[in-house]
Amino acid sequence: MKKMTVVLCCSLLTLGFSLSAVAASGPETLNLKDVFGVEGKKQAVIFPHHRHQAKVACASCHLNPRGGGPVKFDLADRSGVGNDFHRKWCWPCHVEMEVPKGKSCTTCHSGPV
Ligand code: HEC
Ligand code: HEC
Ligand code: HEC
Repeated sequence: MKKMTVVLCCSLLTLGFSLSAVAASGPETLNLKDVFGVEGKKQAVIFPHHRHQAKVACASCHLNPRGGGPVKFDLADRSGVGNDFHRKWCWPCHVEMEVPKGKSCTTCHSGPV
């Protein structure tokens, strides 16, 4: 009987940990037009969040070094090709890390208009 209780407790603990691990890493992909309320005619950016998590630190984007919550960039200018998403956030790192086609429009703008 005692053994059963221990086993049950352990499985509940494991379940709890794996659930919180999933929640803490956030969504796999994000539609950035929706997330940031961006208007315009360009196709929406479907951002591969999990692929970035595998290659760069959470603190590259999030204010909180452990990830989640707001991003650390001032994104006041949201229109045209000279917008802050390009200039301050996505493009500089893609250039620095030599992401293939990292500045090609279709690499990022692949979602619905
Ligand atoms: C590394 C990713 C990335 C690349 C490459 C990229 N963009 Fe963007 N762009 C964004 C993000 C993020 C936004 C803001 C969110 C959104 O519009 O979905 C944005 C927004 C825009 C906007 C303002 C919103 C709108 O619909 O008018 C324009 C215009 C734009 N991009 C044009 C371009 C053009 C032209 C290229 C190719 C020269 C390009 N982008 C390449 C990430 C990228
Ligand atoms: C290349 C940029 C980037 C990296 C790196 C990144 N994230 Fe995110 N993350 C985002 C964006 C963009 C959002 C959506 C932000 C919003 O909703 O305002 C987001 C949202 C989240 C969310 C869900 C929403 C929230 O507000 O809490 C979690 C959880 C999260 N990220 C965790 C992480 C963790 C953990 C890491 C590191 C292992 C990480 N992220 C790395 C860009 C990134
Ligand atoms: C701190 C560095 C960094 C930042 C900031 C960053 N990226 Fe990336 N991005 C990468 C790396 C590294 C890869 C290559 C990932 C891989 O090989 O799986 C990548 C890959 C991508 C890809 C996939 C390209 C492909 O070949 O399919 C997309 C789409 C993308 N990023 C969009 C964005 C957008 C949109 C932003 C800004 C909101 C952004 N990234 C910001 C480092 C970054």
